[in-house]
Amino acid sequence: MTSVNDLRSSFVDYFARNGHEAVASSPLVPRNDPTLMFTNAGMVQFKNVFTGVEKRPYSTATTAQKCVRAGGKHNDLDNVGFTARHHTFFEMLGNFSFGDYFKDRAIELAWTLLTKDWGLPRDKLMVTVYEDDDEALELWKKIAGLSEDRIVRLGAKSNFWQMGDTGPCGPCSEVFYDHGDKVWGGPPGSTEEDGDRWIEIWNLVFMQFEQHADGSRSGLPRPSIDTGMGLERVAAVMQGVHDNYDIDLFKALIGAAAQASNADVNGPGNRSLRVIADHLRSMSFLIAEGVLPSNEGRGYVLRRIMRRAMRHATLLGASEPTIHKLVPTLVREMGQAYPELSRGEAMIAETVRLEEGRFLKTLGRGLQILEAETAELGEGAVLDGATAFKLYDTYGFPLDLTEDALRNRNITVDQAGFDAAMAQQKAEARKNWAGSGEAATDMVWYGLADKIGPTEFLGYETERAEGEIKALLVDGAEVQSITAGQEGVVIVNQTPFYGESGGQVGDTGLVRGEGFSAEVLDTGKHHGVFSHKVKVSEGTLKVGQAVELVVDHERRSSIRANHSATHLLHEALRLVLGDHVAQKGSMVSADRLRFDFVHTKPMTPQEMAEVEDIANEIILQNTPVETRLMGVEEAKESGARALFGEKYGDEVRVVSMGEPTGNGLGWSVELCGGTHVRRTGDIGLVSVVSEGAVAAGVRRIEALTGKAARHRGNTNVNIVSSAAGLLRSGTHDVLDRIEALQNQLKSAEKALSDARQKLALGGSGEGGGATETVNGVTFVGRVVEGVAAKDIKTVVDAEKKRIGSGVVVIVLKGEDGKGTVAIGVTEDLTGKYSAGTLIKSATAALGGQGGGGRPDMAQGGGPDGSKAEDAVSAIRSLI
Ligand code: ALA
Repeated sequence: MTSVNDLRSSFVDYFARNGHEAVASSPLVPRNDPTLMFTNAGMVQFKNVFTGVEKRPYSTATTAQKCVRAGGKHNDLDNVGFTARHHTFFEMLGNFSFGDYFKDRAIELAWTLLTKDWGLPRDKLMVTVYEDDDEALELWKKIAGLSEDRIVRLGAKSNFWQMGDTGPCGPCSEVFYDHGDKVWGGPPGSTEEDGDRWIEIWNLVFMQFEQHADGSRSGLPRPSIDTGMGLERVAAVMQGVHDNYDIDLFKALIGAAAQASNADVNGPGNRSLRVIADHLRSMSFLIAEGVLPSNEGRGYVLRRIMRRAMRHATLLGASEPTIHKLVPTLVREMGQAYPELSRGEAMIAETVRLEEGRFLKTLGRGLQILEAETAELGEGAVLDGATAFKLYDTYGFPLDLTEDALRNRNITVDQAGFDAAMAQQKAEARKNWAGSGEAATDMVWYGLADKIGPTEFLGYETERAEGEIKALLVDGAEVQSITAGQEGVVIVNQTPFYGESGGQVGDTGLVRGEGFSAEVLDTGKHHGVFSHKVKVSEGTLKVGQAVELVVDHERRSSIRANHSATHLLHEALRLVLGDHVAQKGSMVSADRLRFDFVHTKPMTPQEMAEVEDIANEIILQNTPVETRLMGVEEAKESGARALFGEKYGDEVRVVSMGEPTGNGLGWSVELCGGTHVRRTGDIGLVSVVSEGAVAAGVRRIEALTGKAARHRGNTNVNIVSSAAGLLRSGTHDVLDRIEALQNQLKSAEKALSDARQKLALGGSGEGGGATETVNGVTFVGRVVEGVAAKDIKTVVDAEKKRIGSGVVVIVLKGEDGKGTVAIGVTEDLTGKYSAGTLIKSATAALGGQGGGGRPDMAQGGGPDGSKAEDAVSAIRSLI
């Protein structure tokens, strides 16, 4: 038997052997299309290559592409479990030519693989062609040797393929396989074609046009090829079974589901087992890509899939979460081909388990109500919309789950009534909100949120995506377009740009499209609507246009690192300072991070070093940063740190990093909606650069990470080595050298001051010189410089002692240009001269007034130090 895994690689190998580049599957959430909810065909990732907008280094390619068809244009959700070949998740095998080969080679490659390599009997195969495609018909005759009765011409409905409302498209040709006359059905084009006997296994699309939103079609640069083969269908053919759910892969999944719920694979629960097996794949692959169950957009499609599977598990008798137990089986079957499943195994299982726990709480009660409300209804009846809405609103039953539950009994739901109940609830909410007195500008956002719905944020997973312009604002008012030079706000349906919130700044980057581009200066978030503040650099942006949104990668990487480092510092602070450390606020930008926390005294340098060391240890562990979705209570119970006083929704993202130390989730676990690094090692390095007070009992630390931390470290090292150069020492001796120099400086200063004092005393230790006799009185009068003002009295005393009897005047010519004077009169002369009186004349000479003291000693000063000699003369003349 050829297993699914063998077939997948056999297909890819065959085309690789034939010169095709083997390209990995692209994500289920398309980055390059604003209109698609999920990747629904192999060609999605090549959409822009077909149209010539994007160039790749190869002109032919082959892939096994994961696809989801649930929600959006292609939606098979309702059919799963009821047919042999519908899936919400499936794999599409394909080969592609971007202007390289066309119809003939495509037909030749397909026919050779099917009939030679895989050995399918030719008489079991039939093909269809587009009604007027004579060329394809002739090629099938020539290359495959098919007779005309094996080739059916069909119209555009089945033989013209397009991805969605817009994009590359063209006529196609399909290959059908005959499962034999035991199965009811007829060949394509016949009245019995809907039966399961003749099954389409491969679609060859001859890509030639691009479909535009306005309905027009233009030619592709060159004719191209896009083919798609459902792996599950062809596996059924190759394994000789008729039903996709009987192939090896599904047998394993269904077997595991049966075991987990004690159900009989062939019993009445078979349909539920199929639903669970199918839904397990789509939920696991979506969660592996970071989509989490929510009440909006893709997250809501995921939730619908999960809850539908969960109801089927309860139909099988489960009262405890069981579906999460099947994840290991899926990983065993598909993890090799899709390593994201193996990597995400624990995360997937836990997300499923938590959603099961959440839903099981209300599911039983909801089913009772459904039972009671429909007990009286017979076949063909309609359940009222109000009840369906109550089930949705109160018990978490998506509408399609209610429909699914009633389908067996042939009861439908009044969809219009359901919509009306929903609209009324929204109107109530709006009325209450309008009455709450919020600012008028906020009203604009509320109105927009109501009109266009919340923006879907893709930025956890990608920094580049396409979106569709839903609204444009200039000066707070809606407009239809903005042109080059203008500033305004762009609102799109989905975006990779983070809108400022939770302390993390908004992203910047570019918005561009055909003929226009704009710089995104900032991104905000209001009632779930993301506002891209732009300045248009070229062309005109219009509502309805498709745009490519590109986040500034460098800046975002720094923001990620800073945000993750904030979590690590938070936990490290708690470990070092104590459990009282609660977050009071934070600011995460591209160049630094700031974290405010409760703590009553300054941190010591040792504490800071310890915090930094601990955070860097976790960085070096380099473990993946993991995100889960939990109920708030559940998250808090698990030990996750939350911001006190912050309002959280019913469900919160929980970010954990570092090896767990007991609570099982991680070393640091926080409620957080921000963007983070993939692994802690991506932070590189964290360095705390300051610590201080912001308010009573609240401290703030600031830190740098990655490049910025390294640059700061380098700058400091450079300063030290330059200092060592100047000191002519090694870097390690810098401190000793500085200390030695400081000591040297101190003694030199001391010596200098001693020397100056000596100088003031007249040039020698004994003082002396410049002694005159005036009117029979010994007089010493001198101008000095370079001594401290407080020291001149000492000089006066020394001179008085030396001369024994007389008058001493010392004037200091200060460095600041001022003059200070001290006058001494020996005791024997104080009857004749008073220092206190003499001083007035001296200060007057210096341009000042006053001065004072005792008869034997007085001091004063004046602003004009240059008149120092005059001050001496003034006293001399008074004696
Ligand atoms: N894109 C084509 C399909 O999905 C091959 O059928």
